[in-house]
Amino acid sequence: MKLIFLTLLVIIGITDSRSEQYEVVEPADTVFALAGEDFILPCSVKPNISVVDMRVEWFRPDLKNSLVHLYEDHDDRNTNQSQSYRERTKLNHQELQRGNASLKLSSVQVSDEGRYKCLIQSKSWSVNATVNVRVEAVAGSPPVITVDGFDHSERLHLQCESEGWNPEPDLEWLDSEGVRLSSETTEMQRNTDGFSVKHTITVQHRDDKIHCRVKLKHHMLETLIVTSSKSFNPWRTSIILSSIAVVLIVIAGILLAAFVRKTREHDELQNENTGKKQECDELQKEKDRIQQELNKQKEENRKQRENNARLQNENQKIKRERDELQKEKNRIQQVLNKQKEKSKQ
Ligand SMILES: *[C@@H]1O[C@H](CO)[C@@H](O)[C@H](O)[C@H]1NC(C)=O
Ligand SMILES: *[C@@H]1O[C@H](CO)[C@@H](O)[C@H](O)[C@H]1NC(C)=O
Ligand SMILES: *[C@@H]1O[C@H](CO)[C@@H](O)[C@H](O)[C@H]1NC(C)=O
Ligand SMILES: *[C@@H]1O[C@H](CO)[C@@H](O)[C@H](O)[C@H]1NC(C)=O
Repeated sequence: MKLIFLTLLVIIGITDSRSEQYEVVEPADTVFALAGEDFILPCSVKPNISVVDMRVEWFRPDLKNSLVHLYEDHDDRNTNQSQSYRERTKLNHQELQRGNASLKLSSVQVSDEGRYKCLIQSKSWSVNATVNVRVEAVAGSPPVITVDGFDHSERLHLQCESEGWNPEPDLEWLDSEGVRLSSETTEMQRNTDGFSVKHTITVQHRDDKIHCRVKLKHHMLETLIVTSSKSFNPWRTSIILSSIAVVLIVIAGILLAAFVRKTREHDELQNENTGKKQECDELQKEKDRIQQELNKQKEENRKQRENNARLQNENQKIKRERDELQKEKNRIQQVLNKQKEKSKQ
């Protein structure tokens, strides 16, 4: 009886001492995950006993409703899992046999960054470990340079933008020789896809190539803009040309308005003219008749010939100044009448 009791005590003692030995291997430092990629949150029991019969819980202690993954009673129990981890977590059940409760997280997001806890519970003991995750969204967008304008001293105002980085990237401007140029204004913003960065700079256009480089650790994206006189001048010329075009368009507009008004006036005048022309044609006929008469009289009288010549000159004036034809006609008529009287005499 004593022996059995002693044996029991020894067994209990061994079990107790064993259970206290278990621990979870915890990463010494923050672990880095890449946005968009899959990532394994490490957690394994040491010594490597099977945890298949245990409860494995992954959660984020800093967040509410923070269940990332739950394994209990030999299966995954994810009805209460946080929405943002739905369909993105996987526990390798074969690895559980080797004390490995590492959790695979698919398509990592910047919002996955933070503190995770891996909790392993058996009926008699429980261990836990903390994993600090940093998400690097190194695949930020390539920087985009835009020309904001240029001033009178032919200096270019440039702006360079890039987004989707995490953590904050460095942005730098470099000239064609690779010398760093200092930014005029800098801007850093954080949103759900990470950090976006925007810097501006003013350069002389003789610096023919300007690079904008965005760096994060060993990742780098770069864009360059060619601002040499060859490309700069046509650009300026095109601005001047387009200014000229604008001026021309304005002038054309004014001319068109004037033309429309003139055309209207012209049409009115034309109507008047048509009436006058008819009168004029009648006058011309009369004139021709008068001319015939005059020709007859020409032979008779030298004086009349002179008069006739004078009349002819006047007739030419009539042709040119149609508006005055009426008056001239009257005058001619008067002259003719006088001549008629004279010839009758
Ligand atoms: C989910 O949460 C509810 C309420 O907190 C609880 O009753 C239920 O057992 C949980 N389900 C699982 C699978 O843990
Ligand atoms: C634990 O399991 C994961 C797969 O789920 C594997 O990638 C990892 O190497 C394992 N860790 C150890 C220490 O065996
Ligand atoms: C535990 O690890 C040892 C050596 O590292 C290995 O020989 C043994 O098979 C492992 N046990 C299990 C259950 O995986
Ligand atoms: C994690 O383990 C520590 C001791 O190592 C304990 O104080 C703490 O309460 C445990 N946390 C949880 C959530 O079990």
